[in-house]
Amino acid sequence: MKPYRFSHQREIVADRYDNIVYKIGSYDDLVWQWEKGIIDVEMSFLSSRPRYLDFGCGTGRIISYVEDNVQESTGVDISSEMISRAQSCVHRSELLRADITVKDVLVGRIFDLITVFRVFLNSEPELRKEIMGTLSQKLSREGVMIFNIPGNTPFDASSRKHIRHNPKRPI
Ligand SMILES: C[S@@+](CC[C@H](N)C(=O)[O-])C[C@H]1O[C@@H](n2cnc3c(N)ncnc32)[C@H](O)[C@@H]1O
Repeated sequence: MKPYRFSHQREIVADRYDNIVYKIGSYDDLVWQWEKGIIDVEMSFLSSRPRYLDFGCGTGRIISYVEDNVQESTGVDISSEMISRAQSCVHRSELLRADITVKDVLVGRIFDLITVFRVFLNSEPELRKEIMGTLSQKLSREGVMIFNIPGNTPFDASSRKHIRHNPKRPI
């Protein structure tokens, strides 16, 4: 099987993602409407407008929703097919085609909010560790990372995870 890193590098995959998986009214679109509320709640805990990173930004679903409410907004994705679609739906985000687990094009930069949506479920265990290892170095002390593990299980607390450096804040 193709390594997960290279799973979204065909135009047909990018097109399917936007026009079938996230077609308005699809199951995934319905879940996305619910996920937006989680993002809003998490962002309300951040004291100021955060520096934001969307890892595996894909076609721009998350970053285009968040970008207007942050100080600066950066998306990274290894796939040029996915990221070129993202380019058309963001208006104030920096988008980088890169795999920061291999070559850190964000060296020295720190973020207060990091999102990783729909990346971990199908990643190999080694890739998951590499992503977490890389991103944990980029999250500010009071920062928040939001990631999801979408699956076929019904909505419940185990299908979403929030990580904070500050354990006193509510989850
Ligand atoms: C299922 S898509 C999710 C896109 C977006 N986060 C969303 O939820 O709509 C997964 C994305 O992760 C990207 N990806 C996978 N491994 C990556 C890596 N090592 N570095 C950067 N992007 C990666 C893929 O290219 C793909 O665009």
